[in-house]
Amino acid sequence: MKVTAIASSNIAFIKYWGKADDALRLPLNSSISMNLSGAYTTTTVEFSPTRESDTVTLLGGTFSQKEEARTIQALERIRKRTGLAHLARVVTHNTFPKGIGAAASASGFAALTLAGFAAAGATLSQKEQTVFARLGSGSACRSIPDGFVIWDKGTSSDDSCAYTLYPPMHWDLRDIVVIVDSHMKKVSSTEGMEGAGTSPLLQRRLAAIPDRIKRCSDALRTKDFQALGDVIEEDCLDMHAVMQSQSPPLYYWSTATEKVVASVRGWRREQIPVYFTIDAGPNVHLICEAKDEQVVIQKAREVDGAKEIIVNKPAQGAHLVDKNLF
Ligand code: PMV
Repeated sequence: MKVTAIASSNIAFIKYWGKADDALRLPLNSSISMNLSGAYTTTTVEFSPTRESDTVTLLGGTFSQKEEARTIQALERIRKRTGLAHLARVVTHNTFPKGIGAAASASGFAALTLAGFAAAGATLSQKEQTVFARLGSGSACRSIPDGFVIWDKGTSSDDSCAYTLYPPMHWDLRDIVVIVDSHMKKVSSTEGMEGAGTSPLLQRRLAAIPDRIKRCSDALRTKDFQALGDVIEEDCLDMHAVMQSQSPPLYYWSTATEKVVASVRGWRREQIPVYFTIDAGPNVHLICEAKDEQVVIQKAREVDGAKEIIVNKPAQGAHLVDKNLF
């Protein structure tokens, strides 16, 4: 059977950085995110008895050998779980460049999990889907459920899973991504995270996370935008402090990143309520409410070094669609 799924990327408000188990991708901390309407992956999977090898194609781009191997490992997990022996053809397409810090691996492994199990004829609970997506890429588990999502770090592979805190329509927020560099990032989050334990700041970060998770979910529940923005920036800067104090150090910011961050602080002084967050790359995510979307887009366009802007609303989770890519 040939099946296609769409999954959005997600932006973490409280970030995941560091693993308790590398192979199982068990995180050291829980995290909270929002699915992004403007940055998504479409993936078609077909298992066939006549196929002699797994093939993986990225439309409009190429997979590295490592990425191809990770995708084939995900297909093997699907075969193992379902008992299917057939090999597969996978064709995938992103609406955005991979490696831009807009988490193509999150949407990619979420879409692959959904399409792959459906193509294998299996029905999984959403909880189990998030577990399988997590094994491909940690943050992918957050792209399975709808809207605003928490990934509970859990205690084992079976309960380290993600679920919806609030549906997309709960709060009309925007994530306006300022692309300052669309080239592939130098050190992937998987590689970078391996050094997290070498940072003297990691333990202090982990101790601060439970309170931030509570502040973030409270701010989402009460729609307190300032409280949300404060905790988002605090956690972003804290994660980057850990990255920068690792051995070897990781510095994902560019001069343009610093300019956008300084601009955001200036816009707040002009009473524009907008906050920033940054993943493992130089691009900046501007978080604001729908009412401020136009002014934030206009300001973002004026920043020196801003090459492209992607506007995102809160999005639904991964879902199957009728139109196949081949
Ligand atoms: O699961 P990965 O490899 O996409 O790692 C995600 C790491 C960050 O984007 C930096 C933080 C996060 O929680 O999304």
